[in-house]
Parts: sequence; C-alpha cells; structure tokens
Amino acid sequence: MHFFKYKKGELYAEEVPIKEIVSKVGTPAYIYSYNTLQRHFNAYKDAFRDIPHIICFALKANSNSAIIRLLANLGSGADVVSGGELYKALRCGIPPKKTVYAGVGKTEEEIKYSLESGILMFNVESDNELIEIDRIASQLNLKAPIALRVNPDIDPKTHPYVATGLKKHKFGIPIDKALDSYRLAKSLRNITIVGVHKHIGSQITDVAPFVDALKRITVLIDSLAKNGIYIKYLDIGGGLGITYNSESPPLPVDLAKNILPLLVTRELTLILEPGRSIVGNAGILVTKVLYLKKSENKEFVIVDAGMNDLIRPSIYGAYHKIQPVTQKVREKIVADIVGPICESGDFLAKEREIPKVKQGEYLAVMSAGAYGYAMSSNYNSRPRPVEVLVKGSEYAIIRSRETYEDLVKGEIIPDFI
Ligand code: LLP
Repeated sequence: MHFFKYKKGELYAEEVPIKEIVSKVGTPAYIYSYNTLQRHFNAYKDAFRDIPHIICFALKANSNSAIIRLLANLGSGADVVSGGELYKALRCGIPPKKTVYAGVGKTEEEIKYSLESGILMFNVESDNELIEIDRIASQLNLKAPIALRVNPDIDPKTHPYVATGLKKHKFGIPIDKALDSYRLAKSLRNITIVGVHKHIGSQITDVAPFVDALKRITVLIDSLAKNGIYIKYLDIGGGLGITYNSESPPLPVDLAKNILPLLVTRELTLILEPGRSIVGNAGILVTKVLYLKKSENKEFVIVDAGMNDLIRPSIYGAYHKIQPVTQKVREKIVADIVGPICESGDFLAKEREIPKVKQGEYLAVMSAGAYGYAMSSNYNSRPRPVEVLVKGSEYAIIRSRETYEDLVKGEIIPDFI
C-alpha cells in the first residue's frame, strides 16, 4: 500500500503531481511519500502492540537523514551495520538504547564508538568478535551488552545474494554451536549477555521461514536458561518482503499472528529490524526518456537513470514496475529500458511490455525506496540524484543533486605528477 496514485491520468505523490516536482528538481529523482512511511511504521507498531517491543529500522535500506528523523519521531530505533550508520542514527535523534549493531566485520574503531555511545546491544557474529569486544570494553572500563547472532540454518526462499540464515553463509554462529559461544560470553568479564539475534534473509514472501527459525531459537533460549543464561531481548531481524510485481508477502500483522503465540508466555522484549517493508514502496525513482532506439529486432528505451542510480535490476535481476508518469491510451511495445552507463549490464528492465513512450517524457520506477539511493554510486562519474520528500501537498528536497564539484571532493593530485 502506498500513496503514489494516478489522478486524471497524472501520477501523484500524495497531493503533488510528479511532473510538478521534476520540472523543478530535474531527473533522475528519488521521490518519497511521508504518509506511506508513517503507515508502514505504524503497521509494525500496531501489529506488535500487545508485547514489549522495539522496531529498529534497518538503516542500510535507506539512510537519508530526513527519513531517519521522520522514523525517529515515530518512535523507531535503529539497526546499524557500520560506524557511519551509527553516526547517522544518533545525529537524527535515535536513542542509543534503541540501537542494535550487527555485521561480521566490526572494526576496533566501530566497537569503541558503539561502546562510548551506549548502544542497546552488539549482535555478535563470531567467538573472535566476542573476544575483541571484551578486550576493547575492558580498555574503556565498560561492559559491552551483547546478543549472539545465531544462524538457524533455515532457507528463506529468496534471492541467493540476500539469504543469510543457511549454514553456508558467513553470518552468525551456527545454532548447534551457540550454547558454547554463550558459555564463552559468560566467561568474559566485560561482556554482559542480554539477547539473542537472528536474521535469515531479505524479501521473504512467506511467513513459514520466520516461524521455523523462531521455533529453533526458542529451543535455544530454553536450553540457555537451563544453563543459567537468561535472555532479555529477542531480535528476530528484518526481512518481510514487499510487492514489486505480483508477490503477496505477509504483512506485519500476519507475521505477528504467526509468531506471537510462540512468545506471549515469555518475558522478552521483541526487537524487529525491518528495512525494505518500511521504505521500499514509499519511494520511486523518476527518470526521463532520452532516446528511443531500434536495432535489428530489439527496441531500447534509453533513460537518464542508470545502474549507478538503481543497481537492483543489474545485480539481482530484480523487477521494478516502470510506468509513464502521464497515462495515455497508446500502443504497447516490448523494450529493454536501459541507462546511459557503458555496460550491457546497465538496465532497469529487460524485454518489458510498456506503453509506447516518447522522448522527453517521464517514467516512474516503482518500489525504489529501499536499497535504491542507498546502493547508488558515482560510476561513470555521474552525480547522484536528488531526493525529495512529499507530505500531503508539501514537498522538500531532502538531499541535493550532486554537482561536478562533488565528484572531485577529496581527490588530491600529488606534486610528483
Ligand atoms: N537486519 C539485518 C541483520 C540485515 O542484514 C538486513 C538486511 C535487515 C535487517 C533488513 O532487511 P529487510 O527488512 O530490508 O529485508 N540490497 C538487497 C537487500 C540486502 C539486505 C541485507 N540485509 C536488495 O536490494 O534486495
């Protein structure tokens, strides 16, 4: 559900025509809907209101400061995976005590910064990381609150690049080794065990893997208790999918209905780390048709957004709906919708049936709010796009389009050249 709708054939973001925005800010442009973000966040809040919980927005999906602040104002915490994300979360008003930190490669600087900031917990991914956190915490004379990220060996049935909870993956501690790792944690003087964490993957469109993984984790929690190790926070990660094409993924309320029976009798605070399901359908990428081109038996629609602006189709073969900003009755063509980057891997859609668009008109690439701008780059020395937030009939630029000067910021030509 989102607030990008056609009114009399013109695509709107909430109350504002897309055309009006891009005529001011240019293209390519990421445009987000405030009310969609709010609605998605509140869907989680409502679904889990019967048990103590913290919704920690996964900043990796979208870390624009305006979006973080908006979610902070709604009560969100943060799931961070780098010092940079922690900096952004804190700067935008997310309380450290609502912030969890995962990732297999935390550096000494990042661990120090997190300890000094007083985050809720580290989601620790290996025994060696535990030992390192203990060492740094003892130097600072602090106690490090930790959860172990447990790998439950569950197939989330999603794209292999975004599945994380199988034995073969680099993430977490295998569930059959977890008790030993908790014992190690208990023996370390500057570590305090507070939780258990799991995250099995992203864009999951079925509730069963969440339930299966959680069942395994609750067995672990019980065996920990038998060993005198008590858990306060159960962090079940993110991963709920969204509709890109014709998927019908479970909603937060469906997830709640299926997992709450496993949790109600336990005195735990539940932590969720949604990213995509909060911001994915709350953002679109608007691009302009530059050229139409026909080769022997293929049509190309060449647009001004490339794989540097939205890389998901290129690396995951991901599907994004692409629709003209102005609807008209017209014939359809089957075309590759491609960007200006010098690679054949630069496409937004392949063999896509779309209305026969004209040069100069705008296309909306839907469901681009998550892992869109966040994964963008300057490849081919292309300035990154502008980002705009719409709320009702108001809108504002929330990140300026980069300039050519931005492209050389920080570059140094040494004297010996
Ligand atoms: N928590 C952890 C530990 C994660 O690794 C992730 C995502 C999340 C939470 C948030 O998952 P979500 O609710 O957004 O599914 N770039 C890929 C997605 C990578 C996801 C990485 N981890 C894409 O564009 O599909």
